[in-house]
Amino acid sequence: MSNNCAVILAGGEGTRMHSKKPKVMAELLFKPMIDHVFTAVKKAGICEICVVTGYQAAILEEHLQGRAFTVRQTERLGTGHAVMQAAEYLRTHDFDNVLILNGDAPFMDSDTIVQALSYHETRGFVQTVISAKIENPYGYGRIVRDFNGDFCAIVEEASADKETKKINEINSGAMWFKKDALLYLLSKITNDNSKGEYYLTDTVGIAVSEKMRVGAYTAKSADAVLGANTRVQLNELNELLRHKILNRLMLSGVSIPCTDGVIVDGGAEIGPDTVILPGTIIKEGCEIGENCVIGPNTVLYKTKVGDGCVLNQVQAEEAEVKSNANLGPFVHLRPNTVIGEHVHCGNFVEVKNSVIGEHTSVSHLTYVGDSDVGKGVNFGCGVVTVNFNGKTKHRCEIGDDAFIGCNTNLIAPVKIGDRAYTAAGSTVTEDVPDDALAIARSRQTTKAGWVIRKKPYRPKKY
Ligand code: UD1
Ligand code: CA
Repeated sequence: MSNNCAVILAGGEGTRMHSKKPKVMAELLFKPMIDHVFTAVKKAGICEICVVTGYQAAILEEHLQGRAFTVRQTERLGTGHAVMQAAEYLRTHDFDNVLILNGDAPFMDSDTIVQALSYHETRGFVQTVISAKIENPYGYGRIVRDFNGDFCAIVEEASADKETKKINEINSGAMWFKKDALLYLLSKITNDNSKGEYYLTDTVGIAVSEKMRVGAYTAKSADAVLGANTRVQLNELNELLRHKILNRLMLSGVSIPCTDGVIVDGGAEIGPDTVILPGTIIKEGCEIGENCVIGPNTVLYKTKVGDGCVLNQVQAEEAEVKSNANLGPFVHLRPNTVIGEHVHCGNFVEVKNSVIGEHTSVSHLTYVGDSDVGKGVNFGCGVVTVNFNGKTKHRCEIGDDAFIGCNTNLIAPVKIGDRAYTAAGSTVTEDVPDDALAIARSRQTTKAGWVIRKKPYRPKKY
């Protein structure tokens, strides 16, 4: 493949979003629009990316740190002017072709990008615009063709006459250029139009007038051009993308009996016969096996779930749940947690930075933090691993088949041996050897007849 780069235009303010953030940071399925564009570019095999920032540039520069080269456009003088800011970057790098993309068009996909490049290269064009045929072309630049059907200009909405406005083939904003031709054409565009802007789209007419070969590649799916100018449109894009992903999952064997509130990241891998119930949000970086029931109301982020698991009302981030675990209702798994096979965690259980061995049961009202828990352990109700002394965190170690009595506090660092027991209500501060019972609470004293003698209260009248 030739040596290519992408320039993403992201300087615009997006006034109608009424946001203090750059428009391209508006989120589609929990990811800024520009990240969707990035994913498409990378998937198309383009590694060199330059982003033109402008409005609230610092926010974008921080977001893109280490991922792309950025240049600032200090005044918003149009898309042509935005690309001019990348001229120095283009001049000093050895690229064959340059792909220009709008950062606010998150549906542009890698297939369209790759197909357009091959169209561009095989025909020897200096510029190939990705176009689409849509029902309502209002607001878009129109693709104008001459009487032979050859593409000859793009006319913006503001400059279009009545006839031109009827054209429903539009400019997606994405286009491939031969690098040298792009630099040359940029030097030729002017701001001689009603908006006083430098339109990138004027490059087409200039190229044609100089007998340079240009083309328009029509995207197979018109969705590729969709963008959002308002939050109402952003909601429409979210719904469109959400259902695209859910439909794909359903067609691959995942059951979603009711899609209400079900939001799944496009990169999630979910095995067949898994059921996703309402209110479940599966964010980026998740992998879920076969035959699971996920939800209702479960939120997963960067979490791996094995086969045959049940996650009912679970929140998990950066965790791993091995096969046949049964979690919920109301379980919270925090980063660096590994839940072993056949583990059960029940109501109001929180686990953080811990490993729970297979067949262990943590059924009710328990906090397990910074702990290494063996196999077959039973936690009574209300156990707390006391991992933080106000300054430092320590670990608890619990051996295989141990039995932690109800309401035990394990003061870390502490080690409970294999098969050891702790009595209910104990505050355990010292290690408990294998097979031992630790009782760490004061003995009960019972004073017979104490109430009659002391009369500590006035008897109530019913
Ligand atoms: C642009 C195209 C139009 C096309 C449409 C597709 C031009 C002149 N028009 O119109 O033909 O149909 O996209 O959506 O190119 N930007 C900057 N700096 C600027 C101006 C814009 O970085 O000075 C960025 C914006 O952040 C945005 C992109 O360029 O990501 C497109 O700009 P926008 O103003 O949204 O152009 P459209 O009016 O949509
Ligand atoms: Ca736009």
